Amino acid sequence: MEILKLGGSVVTKKDLPKTPNTEAIKRLASEVALAGPRRLVIVHGGGSYGHPLAKEYDIAAGYSSPRQLAGFSMTHQTMVELNGIVVEALLDAGIPAVSIAPSSFIVTEDRRIVDADFSIVSRALDSNMVPVLYGDAVLDSARKFTILSGDQLAARLATELGATRVIFGVDVDGVFTANPKLVKEAKLIEELSLSKMRGMVRIGEALSTDVTGGMLGKINEAGAAAEVGIEVQLVNALKPGVVNAALRGDKVPCTWLRR
Ligand code: IPE
Repeated sequence: MEILKLGGSVVTKKDLPKTPNTEAIKRLASEVALAGPRRLVIVHGGGSYGHPLAKEYDIAAGYSSPRQLAGFSMTHQTMVELNGIVVEALLDAGIPAVSIAPSSFIVTEDRRIVDADFSIVSRALDSNMVPVLYGDAVLDSARKFTILSGDQLAARLATELGATRVIFGVDVDGVFTANPKLVKEAKLIEELSLSKMRGMVRIGEALSTDVTGGMLGKINEAGAAAEVGIEVQLVNALKPGVVNAALRGDKVPCTWLRR
């Protein structure tokens, strides 16, 4: 079983409010279809759907005022909408995609998943469905509610369901020695061991958080899967053909996370 996490910067246009990257979504749906039938779970991020509302109502921090309740609902609803677009595209490509709302079966405690019936997902897989989940606004036993990232969800699904590989589809080729969007000399790190990663987390924190924050958070979550021997691969899902090749097991420019 494999997990494909598609980042919010892939399925949406990050800088335009509530704008799906329809072209990328459709292309990725056909790339998954072309890779042939498989036991696959797809998780997608929030991008310009979930993040602006989550921020406006401070949902990740948890409950502090009644006005957040509508914000919690709106954050979830906008993710349902984006999920609908992703699932429709997968169906159009002939994939038996089935939406499963994380907030309906997952509770967190201080933002970490504590209570979840993952058999919901494994039963769907056993029926040859392709479950499609997403980063969501979820109930939290300590904070009343919070935001569960698609990255944490993907890594946890991988360990719970015994995945052989998690592919993180992002908007760059993988982890670089510096931010490739800002530094021309930045080099792709093809193999990143968890020990090296921990060193980088410290360096990243010391230097700047906005440059590396997103990627470091991602590899921290992904590390939990790599730790138990699951293959973790970061690839550029915005480059046509890359996700298809990765699914087929072909070599692509990427970063492999190793324990
Ligand atoms: C966030 O999910 C979901 C919400 C804000 C509701 P992710 O954290 O996985 O989203 P991206 O991939 O960073 O956009």
